[in-house]
Amino acid sequence: MDIQQLLGLFILLSIVVLFIQYYKRRWPVVNFPPGPTGWPFIGTILSIRNEVFLRAIADKLKPQYGKIFSLMQDVPIVIVTGYDAINEVFQSNKGFDFASRKEPMYLLQLHNPKKLGVFLADYSESWQQQRRFALSTLRGFGFGKTSFEKKITDEVSLLLSHLKDIARVPQDLSTLLTSGVANVMCDTLLGCHYDHNDIEFQHILHVLEECFEIHGRKKSRMLDSVPISRPFLKQHAQQVIDLNEEWYAFLMSKVAEHQKAFVADTEPRDFIDCYLAKGLEEPGIFTIEDLKYVLSDLFSASTDTTSNTLKFALLYMVMNPDVQEKVHQESMRVVGTSRLPCLEDRDKMPYTAATIYEIQRLSSIAQSIPRCATVDTSLAGYSIPKGTNVVCNIWSLHLDPNLWPDPERFDPSRHLNDKGEMVKSPHVLPFGAGRRVCMGETLAKMELFLFFSSLMHQFKFDLPPGREPPSLDPVPGLTSCPFPFEVIIEEYL
Ligand code: HEM
Repeated sequence: MDIQQLLGLFILLSIVVLFIQYYKRRWPVVNFPPGPTGWPFIGTILSIRNEVFLRAIADKLKPQYGKIFSLMQDVPIVIVTGYDAINEVFQSNKGFDFASRKEPMYLLQLHNPKKLGVFLADYSESWQQQRRFALSTLRGFGFGKTSFEKKITDEVSLLLSHLKDIARVPQDLSTLLTSGVANVMCDTLLGCHYDHNDIEFQHILHVLEECFEIHGRKKSRMLDSVPISRPFLKQHAQQVIDLNEEWYAFLMSKVAEHQKAFVADTEPRDFIDCYLAKGLEEPGIFTIEDLKYVLSDLFSASTDTTSNTLKFALLYMVMNPDVQEKVHQESMRVVGTSRLPCLEDRDKMPYTAATIYEIQRLSSIAQSIPRCATVDTSLAGYSIPKGTNVVCNIWSLHLDPNLWPDPERFDPSRHLNDKGEMVKSPHVLPFGAGRRVCMGETLAKMELFLFFSSLMHQFKFDLPPGREPPSLDPVPGLTSCPFPFEVIIEEYL
C-alpha cells in the first residue's frame, strides 16, 4: 500500500469514526424520540434553518415525526408539543424526572457557567435553598399578598400621570410600561426607585431588553447550535458577553452600595439586605456570587415577562376596540369614577380577567419552557436518558386547534361560562407548572390586573389614523415581545 492509499484509508476511517461518534451522540438510546438525523458538525440546523420560532419548527416537523421529536444542536434536544406530553413533563407522577433546567446552550453558559441563581440552576439542594430563601423573603415583604398592592398602585398612578401628559400624540408606550413594572422590583430588590425619564434607568432597561432579544438573532442560534461556527462569530459572542456584563455590573454596584451601608441585626431595607444577613448566617451557600445571579433572575424574569405581556395587552386592545370598550365598561360599572381599580375588584370583573387570560394565551410570553431530565426516564413511551434537554412548546399548546376553536382569534369570551364567570383552562400554562413553576406567578397576576385594568379604566387607546395595523407576531428572543408600535391615547374622565 503506497502513502496515498494509506492517507486515503486514514481519511475514510476518520470519516467513519466521526459519523459513528455523531450517531452515538445523536441517538443516545434506542427508542429516543424521532427527528431528522442531521450531520456531524452542523447537527439538524439545515432542517430548520428558515424557521425562527419553535412553533414553526414544530409545525414543519410534526407531520413527519409526530408531537414529540428531537433535534441535534450541540447536544440532542427533545421538543414536546401537545398537552398530554407537556403535562407529563410538568406534573409527571414520577415527580422530579424533568425538574432540572435545560443545559444552557453556549451563550447562556458564557455568562452563567456554574448555573447559579434560580432559573438556570439544576434541580439540586443549592437551587432549593436559593428558591426557598428568595420566596420566603419576598413573601416577608408582602409579595403576592394584598399588602404589596400599594407598591404596585403607586407605580400605576405614576404611569397614568405620565400618560396624561402625552395624550393625543402618537407614542410607543413600551418604555413607560417597562419602567413602571421594573420600578416595583427596583424598590423590593434594590431599595431604589427611578424617575421614568432617568437616563441611567432607561439605559439599563434597554440593556436588559437587549440581553433577551439578542438570543433570538440568527447569529446567536448558530453559536448555540453549530459549534464549528464559534470561531467565526466571536464578535457576536463578545457582544452578548458585554451586554450581560453591563447588566451584572449595574446589579453589583447596588450590592456594593448595600455592603458599605450594611449593619447586621437591623431592619433590612430590601432583598439585598436580607441576602447579606443570610450570608452571615450561612456564608458558604448565600455568597455574593450567588446573590448576583439570584438578583438577576428575579429582576429580569419579572420585568421582561410582565412588561411584555402589558405591551401585548395594548396591542390586542387597539386591534380589538370592541373588547377594549367592554373592559372599560366593566371597570366603570364595578369601580365607578372616583377611584382606580384595586385587587378587591378582580373577582367582580370577570370579563377583564378573561381578557388578560386570552392575552396570555395568544402572546405566550414564555414560548417554550426549558427543562432537563434528572434521571433516565420515559416520556410518552419514548426513552429519555438523564441529562437530556427537553423543551415544552407552550406556544403550540396555546394555539392547538384541537383545544381552541379558531385558535388565532382573540376572543376573551371563550374563557367565560354561561353565567359570565371566568373559567380557567388546564391548557393555558403561561407560568409553567410543577416543581419549577414560575416563582412570581401571584405577583405577576396582581401586576397585570392592576396595570391593565387601570389603563383601560382611564384611557382609550387607538392606532394613529392611517397607520398599517402592527404585526401580532413577536420579535424573536428568549421571550415574546411585540414589534414597536405607536398608539394614540385619549383620557376618559
Ligand atoms: C407575566 C409574567 C410572567 C410570566 C409569563 C412568567 C413565566 C415563567 C415561566 C414559564 C417560567 C418557567 C416555569 C417552569 O419551568 O415550569 C418561569 C420561571 C420563573 N419565574 Fe416567572 N413569569 C412571570 C413573572 C415573574 C415574576 C413577577 C417573577 C418574580 C419573582 C418571576 C420569577 C421567576 C423565576 C425566579 C423563575 C425560575 C423558577 C425556577 O426555575 O425554579 N416570574 N416564569
